[in-house]
Amino acid sequence: LPVRVRMVVGNWKMHGSLALCREMVPAMASIAHPAAALVLCPPAPYLGEVTRLATGSQVQCCAQNVADAHGGALTGEWSAGMLADLGCRYAIVGHSERRRHYHESDHLVAAKAQACLEAHVVPIVCVGESWIEHQTGQTEAILQHQLGTLLALSGWRGLIIAYEPVWAIGTGVAARPETIEAAHRFIRSRFAARDPVAGNNMTVLYGGSVNASNAANLFALPDVDGALVGSASLQSDALMQIYTAA
Ligand code: G3P
Repeated sequence: LPVRVRMVVGNWKMHGSLALCREMVPAMASIAHPAAALVLCPPAPYLGEVTRLATGSQVQCCAQNVADAHGGALTGEWSAGMLADLGCRYAIVGHSERRRHYHESDHLVAAKAQACLEAHVVPIVCVGESWIEHQTGQTEAILQHQLGTLLALSGWRGLIIAYEPVWAIGTGVAARPETIEAAHRFIRSRFAARDPVAGNNMTVLYGGSVNASNAANLFALPDVDGALVGSASLQSDALMQIYTAA
């Protein structure tokens, strides 16, 4: 059964370079410790370089996306099995930017998560509400809906969930701690309703403007196990401070 893990995941989005891989991986490897997972998500062309550089260290690699199929005539896609082959242990699935710009539905997100589970790649599945949904009190209804398709997967116990309120991404202002804790508690309760032990053991990350100044406060929240970090993960000093806080 999976256990709750402390973790910091740096999502570079479509940023970075070979030079950044070569700067960041050794810098992070120098502080990474078994007590908390340290995971980097470079753009796909750099996954090979990051896994190669991270070999033998505590730094782990994560794809930003993955296909819902195991292979085939699907130009431009890559499978979870290929990630596993590379030594890349995680994949982000259903990031709000993919839901929005590439029209990924809850159904497709669940299919991608399933493909990961079958290939022994850990899916980090993003959920979260928009500003309008937040303002109109629909957060729990949206989360409930997004989690519903995930709970239908027989392997849901193997998921990592990232709560990313869409309105807090890239703004520089994270959601308030009480808002985050309430959402995380709700997310955990949905899984716990199905299986109390597994629900309690789910790793639930927060994402949305996590930085070196707010990380420690967020990690102190009882239902927050770590962070999915965007822009701050492009600077090794900021990411090192966030990781140290975890
Ligand atoms: O996946 C991480 C992300 O969406 C948060 O981005 O830049 O607000 O930390 P950022």
